[in-house]
Amino acid sequence: MITRDSAVPLYIQIKEYIRQNIVSGVYSENTRIPSERQLSDQFEVSRLTVTKAITELVQEGLLHTRVGKGTFVTPGKINQELRTLTSFTEEMLRRGQSAASRVLYASVDPAEEEIARALSLVPGAKVMVLKRLRLSDEQAIALEITHIIDALCPNILVNHDFSCESLYRVLRDEYGLHMTHAQQTIEARRATATELELLKIDSHTPILSMTRITFNEQDAPFEYTRSAYRGDRYKFNAVLHSVG
Ligand code: GLP
Repeated sequence: MITRDSAVPLYIQIKEYIRQNIVSGVYSENTRIPSERQLSDQFEVSRLTVTKAITELVQEGLLHTRVGKGTFVTPGKINQELRTLTSFTEEMLRRGQSAASRVLYASVDPAEEEIARALSLVPGAKVMVLKRLRLSDEQAIALEITHIIDALCPNILVNHDFSCESLYRVLRDEYGLHMTHAQQTIEARRATATELELLKIDSHTPILSMTRITFNEQDAPFEYTRSAYRGDRYKFNAVLHSVG
């Protein structure tokens, strides 16, 4: 509840009231919070005071507005550990969330120069190219373009449907590929027009752009993937050990 004779400004008190309701689950993920009018009636304050409280919570990423629909509670970020070589499907299932994909492109193409270099191929050698929109609990989370050396997975696209199958599971179980380690880079950038549309984000949402080169037990690269993860839905964590 708010106190009028407090030194804490009213908008801060309202902001903390909303934050408490989010943290305690009274306002649950993806649900609409009471309208500005309802909150200003409830607390007998001006609409402007409520707007200020909500604007700050939107800036902090706890709430988001949908035009013409209201203000909603933003779901917590997926927190991925950077220690193990896992697939999107494994990550989601471990969290009890569903994993699916929308296949946007699937083909065997000659490798572009950059891809050929990363995979130690001669330019023009064949690679399986798979472009997928990755979904978790039916929400688009990431856009990925994967290149796998075609000679290591012949006919993979003919025999598998990657809208519901895990690529890593198929590579391991059907093609006997032993993936031992990967080199991954992560950087922040703005979304491209395609990403804005496919990930259904606005231009303020940052993208976590990742590149992964995956190696087998002979230390030979076989996968090159570029991913664009929603920066508002994903975060990475790593355990750091002192060298001293
Ligand atoms: C992650 C990695 C990709 C990898 C993919 C496999 O998203 N960033 O490099 O290709 O997992 O996912 P799945 O096995 O679910 O198809």
